[in-house]
Amino acid sequence: MGDEPVMATNDDASECKRGAVQLGYWNDKYIQYFVKHVEKRAPEINRGYYARVKGIETFVQKFISKAGSSAQILNFGSGFDTLYWKLKDEGIQIANFVEVDFPSVTAKKCYLIKKNKPLLDRIYDQDGEVKLSATDIHAGNYHCIGADIRNINQLEVKLHQAEVDFNRPTLFIAECVLVYIENDCVNKLLSWISSKFKTGLFINYEMCNINDTFGDVMLGNLKARGCNMAGIAYCKNVESQKSRFLNNGWMGAKAWDMVQIYYSIPENERQRIERIEFLDEKELLIQLFQHYCICLGWLSPEFADFNFNCSDN
Ligand SMILES: C[S@@+](CC[C@H](N)C(=O)[O-])C[C@H]1O[C@@H](n2cnc3c(N)ncnc32)[C@H](O)[C@@H]1O
Repeated sequence: MGDEPVMATNDDASECKRGAVQLGYWNDKYIQYFVKHVEKRAPEINRGYYARVKGIETFVQKFISKAGSSAQILNFGSGFDTLYWKLKDEGIQIANFVEVDFPSVTAKKCYLIKKNKPLLDRIYDQDGEVKLSATDIHAGNYHCIGADIRNINQLEVKLHQAEVDFNRPTLFIAECVLVYIENDCVNKLLSWISSKFKTGLFINYEMCNINDTFGDVMLGNLKARGCNMAGIAYCKNVESQKSRFLNNGWMGAKAWDMVQIYYSIPENERQRIERIEFLDEKELLIQLFQHYCICLGWLSPEFADFNFNCSDN
């Protein structure tokens, strides 16, 4: 099986995000430049994406509040993620922001950034030289690089080109990515990070509790699209998700399923999004949330005390 079906999962995620944004689940004025096509999804899917984006962004904010403007963000398998532009709009200063995906995906992203002025303007308002190629952009503190994260040598060369500083507090993000990668490659990546970087936090969002009927159906759907779920063994439960970090030189790890994350969102905000689309009964939504989690791994003690409460930042 080739990597194309895995790359195509980005189209699906981006379309779902655009659809949910269009309905008003959250604000993102940039996703429209990456995705034109919107298909109506079930309310459960929209709420699932809302919780995913809200949960990850909550930890991103917590990280930046602690690390300050010297923070660096590395987004692995970033697809058409718009976090860089959203942080820019919020006036949040960080030292470096690097997006990594397969070159075929970053080529599309680079093309769309060059084509859409609102995207380009945000990366051009930086001092310094701007370097553009078919698959990579280096502009001020924004870098988009084409690399296979299974290939550490290639990744390291590319991260140097992106001016990654191994001494800065670094946030690593993998949103629905590691499940597509062979376990030994993820282990090598995580132990390479823990040996190279001095301080940092990893946010991993992906499946958990897959060993039941609901999990079987979920995996069956993904496999039917030709996706090899090479990393699925670590999605057994939140403990196995944490073990990825603990066995690869990280100081500690915590994980919460999305039921916990969702119900930590302030009630007025939850009520707002629950009014967007009517749900007859919540059972399916809860099942969906039970099968996804956010796992944090940290390299240094200052990032050990983050809690999942989405209302305290
Ligand atoms: C489900 S999409 C998620 C995209 C984005 N993180 C999001 O949540 O919107 C998975 C992404 O991981 C990328 N990916 C998977 N394996 C990769 C690898 N070995 N190297 C680089 N990117 C990879 C895919 O190309 C795809 O863009």
